Amino acid sequence: MAQQEQWKSKIGFILATAGSAIGLGAIWKFPYVAGTGGGGAFFFLFITFTLVLGMPLLMGEFLIGRKGQTNPIDTYRKLASNPKWGFIGKMGVFTSFILLSFYSVVGGWIILYIVKIVTGGLSVQNDEQYMHLFEDIISNPFSTVIAQFTFMLIAILVVSQGIQKGIEVASKIMMPALLILFIGLVIRSLSLDGAMEGVKFLLVPDFSKLTSESILFALGQSFFTLSLGVSVMVTYASYLPKTQNIPKSAISIILLNTIIALMAGLAIFPGVFAFELEPNAGPVLIFAVLPAVFNHMPFGMVLFLAFLILFLFAALTSAFSMVEIIVASVTKSDATKRKKYTWLTGILIFIVGIPSCLSYGVLSDVKFFNKTVFDLMDFTVSNILMPLGALLIAVFVSRFVSKDVLYSELKQGSNIGNIFFSIWFVLLKYVTPIAIIIVFLDVVGLFKW
Ligand code: PHE
Repeated sequence: MAQQEQWKSKIGFILATAGSAIGLGAIWKFPYVAGTGGGGAFFFLFITFTLVLGMPLLMGEFLIGRKGQTNPIDTYRKLASNPKWGFIGKMGVFTSFILLSFYSVVGGWIILYIVKIVTGGLSVQNDEQYMHLFEDIISNPFSTVIAQFTFMLIAILVVSQGIQKGIEVASKIMMPALLILFIGLVIRSLSLDGAMEGVKFLLVPDFSKLTSESILFALGQSFFTLSLGVSVMVTYASYLPKTQNIPKSAISIILLNTIIALMAGLAIFPGVFAFELEPNAGPVLIFAVLPAVFNHMPFGMVLFLAFLILFLFAALTSAFSMVEIIVASVTKSDATKRKKYTWLTGILIFIVGIPSCLSYGVLSDVKFFNKTVFDLMDFTVSNILMPLGALLIAVFVSRFVSKDVLYSELKQGSNIGNIFFSIWFVLLKYVTPIAIIIVFLDVVGLFKW
């Protein structure tokens, strides 16, 4: 088998995995699902799920990835010494494929906003008009499909370069820049009139607002935003040298990702209340609120442009990881096949994503289970396939990989003690699967009388 490529530096791995994690999930999706799902109570649940379920799972994915040092499908086969288990990897490949098909649609929206600003089409609006402008933009079948294609094209071009040259270098520059711009944005948002109401909405929990659905959404969101349950983190960790400290890496990534989600919330909700918009506006939320917040800043449009470029970058680094897991699985780490399969994968994903793209325009009346194609894809991936994948990975790692292997792998590069190991193991073996099953059963109505 071909020799696996490796990350060049420790920080390169952290940035690339943080890059996979931080993306549309934290910046675009988190505020709007928190807005529809109960504000503070949703946020509280999201944080709890992230720490109690997400963190052990992320460590689990890192661990088996680094142990396996191969593509995700073979990792499961190798570690359980039974080829049957490869299906978890295959499921991850399938989920990533579907995920990217609608993820690229939103990536395209960012590109369209960038084009709009550069051509001067955004600056003259009143605060309330952004909502309509956005709806106009995303309902145009031609420009949205072209934008979606452009997004995929960038992902293809970078991933076909391989992990070091492409993904690692780009992440090192853009991620810190995104963090800095967000800080400025939050400060501006918090100083808007009536900002406190937005802060309260996001941070003060009112548990009576939670429903079974919103609990499932919080669960799905915590996996979605950490790229868990699809073996993407297994894939990235397979390029990892043995010297990397796994628990520490997991903590840094979770911290970074949660900070970005929190900042996205703090940038958006004060604006929502200050400009009297609806917190439950859905996917349009960030695109309708942020231009208005930026409009109230000096050099607003220039800064908004900078923000969009970094936002696009955050979405792209996540997209890279989705393409990467598919390419790694198909090429089985054979570098000579990388280019061809990256193109093939990218083009196929684009084609499959076209109906999702059109579901905000010409296909808006086509509904299945009362959902548009886009919403159906998103719901299936985020709230069914990802939690299911997470459940399977938790079960696999804690019950089918030898405990000695886990312990010695976790010890490599870190000096964690027995107690830490035991807590991690119990969380993964019992708490994660049970929690996921309970949330699923709750949604199908088992606990309703
Ligand atoms: N974590 C990414 C985001 O929040 C989405 C993602 C999910 C990426 C699963 C890869 C795998 O945008």
